[in-house]
Amino acid sequence: MPTSVIRRDLVPFTAIFASLIGAALIGDYLLHQQDIVWLGRYLGIPGTLLILGSLVYSLRKRKVITSGNPGTLLRWHEFMAWLGSMLVLVHAGIHFNALLPWLAVVGMLVNVASGLTGKYLLQRARRRLLAAKATLQQGGRSEAEIEQAVFWDAIAVDAMMKWRAVHFPVAFLFGALAAGHVLGIFTFWGWR
Ligand code: HEM
Repeated sequence: MPTSVIRRDLVPFTAIFASLIGAALIGDYLLHQQDIVWLGRYLGIPGTLLILGSLVYSLRKRKVITSGNPGTLLRWHEFMAWLGSMLVLVHAGIHFNALLPWLAVVGMLVNVASGLTGKYLLQRARRRLLAAKATLQQGGRSEAEIEQAVFWDAIAVDAMMKWRAVHFPVAFLFGALAAGHVLGIFTFWGWR
């Protein structure tokens, strides 16, 4: 019981994040193997467009737009953000010439992680923690015993809540850094 949040929520969370990195590594490997590394440069464009497209859900959630099923849009948000980030990672590749776009990549990854935490983990984990507490209460356990029993779950949920707080500011920072990079690229256009 004490490790249920970790086993049932953090493990799938890590798997989704790892699948993003794994797919990007495979993509980069294929580009090199097929000798089409130049294509990676262009993958920044569909990647960025997909990430921008995923923001339709955020607009719907904040009622900036009023049409569209929020549940369906949420699934599209997750899918488009995953695919877009993956393409941007392949685009970033393993070249280090400029700092700004790499800071944007770090921002993007922290953002994906905080998004996954909020969407996939937090609500489920909180609900499960409350349910576990209620079951223990019904079983006649004392407050101290309950606290002891759910100690690690509570710590894990607390950590996740903090993650959620970074999602919006990091998204903002990521957007600004990415915009700086894209603006710079289009200003000094001259792709090799
Ligand atoms: C419209 C979208 C984008 C375009 C047209 C674009 C274009 C480019 C180009 C032409 C380069 C090569 C620069 C060079 O070798 O001097 C590059 C590199 C890079 N881009 Fe983008 N990019 C886009 C979006 C993004 C986004 C959203 C990110 C990150 C979140 C990103 C991260 C990177 C990284 C890390 C590199 C490698 C920098 C290095 O060599 O050190 N790009 N991009």
